[in-house]
Amino acid sequence: MDYFKLAKEYNTPFYIYDFDKIKERFTMLKDAFKARKSQIFYAVKANSNLSVLKFLASLDSGFDCVSAGEIYRALKAGAKNYKIIFSGVGKGADELKYALEQNILYINLESQEEMLLLEQIAKENQKVARISIRVNPNVDAKTHPYISTGLHENKFGVDIENAKKMYIYAKNSAYLEPVGVHFHIGSQILDISSIHEASIIVAKLVRELLALKINIKFFDIGGGLGVCYKDEQEPSLYDYAQGILSSLHGLDVCIGMEPGRFLVANAGEFVTKVLYEKFNEKKRFVIVDGAMNDLLRPSLYSAYHEIELLGANSEESLCDIVGGVCESGDFLAKDRSLAKTQAGDLIVVKSAGAYGFSMSSNYNSRNRVCELAQENGVVRMIRKRESYEEQVALELEYLKE
Ligand code: LLP
Repeated sequence: MDYFKLAKEYNTPFYIYDFDKIKERFTMLKDAFKARKSQIFYAVKANSNLSVLKFLASLDSGFDCVSAGEIYRALKAGAKNYKIIFSGVGKGADELKYALEQNILYINLESQEEMLLLEQIAKENQKVARISIRVNPNVDAKTHPYISTGLHENKFGVDIENAKKMYIYAKNSAYLEPVGVHFHIGSQILDISSIHEASIIVAKLVRELLALKINIKFFDIGGGLGVCYKDEQEPSLYDYAQGILSSLHGLDVCIGMEPGRFLVANAGEFVTKVLYEKFNEKKRFVIVDGAMNDLLRPSLYSAYHEIELLGANSEESLCDIVGGVCESGDFLAKDRSLAKTQAGDLIVVKSAGAYGFSMSSNYNSRNRVCELAQENGVVRMIRKRESYEEQVALELEYLKE
């Protein structure tokens, strides 16, 4: 792909996603579970561009949403309502009502209070809410603490004993119908034994529920599969699937998966232009037109993204690649070896398809960048670059006389 040509046509910075790659990853994951009934519910939060969602819907993906906004997006992109699930620790009453009205597949509950609220809303609307409960199995996913979710010290889910009580309550309610069980212990997991450990614990719960005539049809194993950003070994999908399947021995359930990063991280790149270089006594800085508001992961998690400087091939030296936002924490990469750059050179930040654009903001009143997609060698724009007018469009003129 000629990024200089794209930069000329669309300006910089931009995100570009490879739809063929997304399809390849989707098929790999689906195939790993082909021995059983399974359904992929793509985690919309990883990359919620409508064209990405539409493309995944065309592959028969379902969608894991964590806000009414994500449900709206999924439906707008053409998702079937019966392939949408709704997760999240703090769903509001309006959001629960919206999910019920849209008649989605099920709602993943994360607390007893939430269950009672949903029951009341279902009653008011004369509907039966299909539910699943997010169980916190107290298993260490051994990942970055900010994206670890399966320990009792984390805010997510309900412990096994409380979950059991909630299922019994739901079974006896005229407005709740328990259909699934859910866990998600963290993200960027490279040691999948933790997912298997969680699966064994949750499968045991399902057996107990079945004995109580609570008919669990969906066994939702969440997302969390780690990917390669630098030199990490990605987990084997065969081993991943085998571990899950063996924990489900004798259970007739549909396996739900909620991959986000696995499908899109390495299908996306962030392309930014060099503005300046500068040196001080200690360091060399390459200043680019992309910044932390466009790609927050390095600043927020010290996340590593591979960097490629296009075109230059002079001798390399260490530098930080930084943006123009007024924060010392605004960097895309630190201490990287890079050839001498010139204004106008392009830098490609790799593995930026997940939690890139979707975590971007207008901080420093910077316009959000445009997004491109390539499929079968053809590139098209799937989101326009924002304008200043669009940035301020929702603000009210408080000084109006
Ligand atoms: N399901 C649930 C309930 C989740 O909370 C998440 C991610 C996923 C599925 C998808 O996880 P994945 O397959 O992408 O690992 N912003 C962070 C990642 C936060 C993940 C939050 N939950 C990052 O940039 O690394």
